[in-house]
Amino acid sequence: MTTNTLDHATLLQQDSRQLHGLHHPNLHKDPLIVDRADGVWLYGTDGRKVLDGMAGLWNVNIGYGNQELPDVAREQMQKLAYTSNFVGVTNPASIQLAEKLAGFAHPTLNTTYFTSGGSESNETAFKTVYYYWRRLGKPEKVKIISRMNAYHGITIAAASATGVTRYWKMFGLPIPNFLHIPDPNAYRYAGDVKEGETVAQAAARALEEAILREGPETVGGFIAEPIQGAGGLVMPGDDYFDRVRAICDKYEVLLIADEVITGFGRTGKWFGQHHWNLRPDIMAFAKGVTSGYLPLGGIQISDDIRDVILNAPAEDSWMHGITYSGHAAACAVGIRNIEIMQEQKLVENADAMGKRLGAGFQRLRDEFAFVDNVRGAGLLWGVEIVTDRESRTGDMAKAGAIANAAMQRGLRTRPVGAGTLAFSPSLAITADEVDTIIELLGSAMDSVV
Ligand SMILES: Cc1ncc(COP(=O)(O)O)c(C=O)c1O
Repeated sequence: MTTNTLDHATLLQQDSRQLHGLHHPNLHKDPLIVDRADGVWLYGTDGRKVLDGMAGLWNVNIGYGNQELPDVAREQMQKLAYTSNFVGVTNPASIQLAEKLAGFAHPTLNTTYFTSGGSESNETAFKTVYYYWRRLGKPEKVKIISRMNAYHGITIAAASATGVTRYWKMFGLPIPNFLHIPDPNAYRYAGDVKEGETVAQAAARALEEAILREGPETVGGFIAEPIQGAGGLVMPGDDYFDRVRAICDKYEVLLIADEVITGFGRTGKWFGQHHWNLRPDIMAFAKGVTSGYLPLGGIQISDDIRDVILNAPAEDSWMHGITYSGHAAACAVGIRNIEIMQEQKLVENADAMGKRLGAGFQRLRDEFAFVDNVRGAGLLWGVEIVTDRESRTGDMAKAGAIANAAMQRGLRTRPVGAGTLAFSPSLAITADEVDTIIELLGSAMDSVV
């Protein structure tokens, strides 16, 4: 079916039959109905062509329109699309992807449990924390510490770990035993900073204080995105994770790295944790593992946690499992997706293009007084829109207006946090396309002055 055979007006009308996530239906006006996409470009049924500055939802890492992954999926589906991955049955694709991932992010992360996406991965991580401490005779270690402005997903526990209050309001969340400390946002830190301390040090101290306040015997895990995404693109300071790791070790708290966005090359290194010394006990992943071509996620657990699961008596089994774990077609696509990233050196490209993109954003900061803190790594960037640089007050209304103006000009970005325009284009983006982002964004900013 080609674009022209789809009647845009009819589709627009019929689109009201579905709910679209995370905003009021009234805001879903004039949506881009994407019928086709190629590289960084989306093509709408109304003839619009838009550069997707977000690569979908931070996930289409190899870019749209790859013609190999459909072949891989078809071949796998013709042989075996899916089979149970519970006890007694498994499949080559999930075996080979787990093998490929063993030791890939960190030498101690060698065992994978597959899920269908990021929220499920974090749910699985929390249950594994509970399980681990129960097996070690410490069932009271059930509190999970997270950070304000974190985004960990929308299922009940994942949304409770999420630190954005509007995700809680109408659902009575967070559930008990989920706590939040300030995120290490050096531009706008919500906690207290002592004299001589950096924000990173203060934010790490906040973790230790929270553990002591709650009682270390009640705290089971700490979850953090290496770079915070949907909550406002927050970079941790350089020694934040060194300190966090040491604190987690000191108080026997499992460290969960949520690499759902930052995994698979997004930050110009294979994993966000490679920028710092995180050494997670559990890593959650999703999105970039298949570049969104099929849904897939998972957790990787440390050898220590794996051994606890392996050595448990039958009556204390890790009773966790979801139908689509180890989905053969999704895993086959995941394997080839990672190979394509390796062959095309997309992580290196993310690093190089990210530097070009960051320099472009800095030029816009020089030009427009309402642009301030510009930060990022690889192809994960935030451009802060403020009422004024002195007060550092985020201007969400203006960020929204710029995003709308950008969309009218053919550039998709997304306002997040207090007024940050987020960018996370495909890792295969070219220098010309990076320059197009800057040009279109500059024009959009001009239009709201
Ligand atoms: C860091 C992080 N964790 C978890 C999730 C949830 O993933 P999903 O939407 O696949 O459930 C997201 C989604 O954006 C995310 O950014």
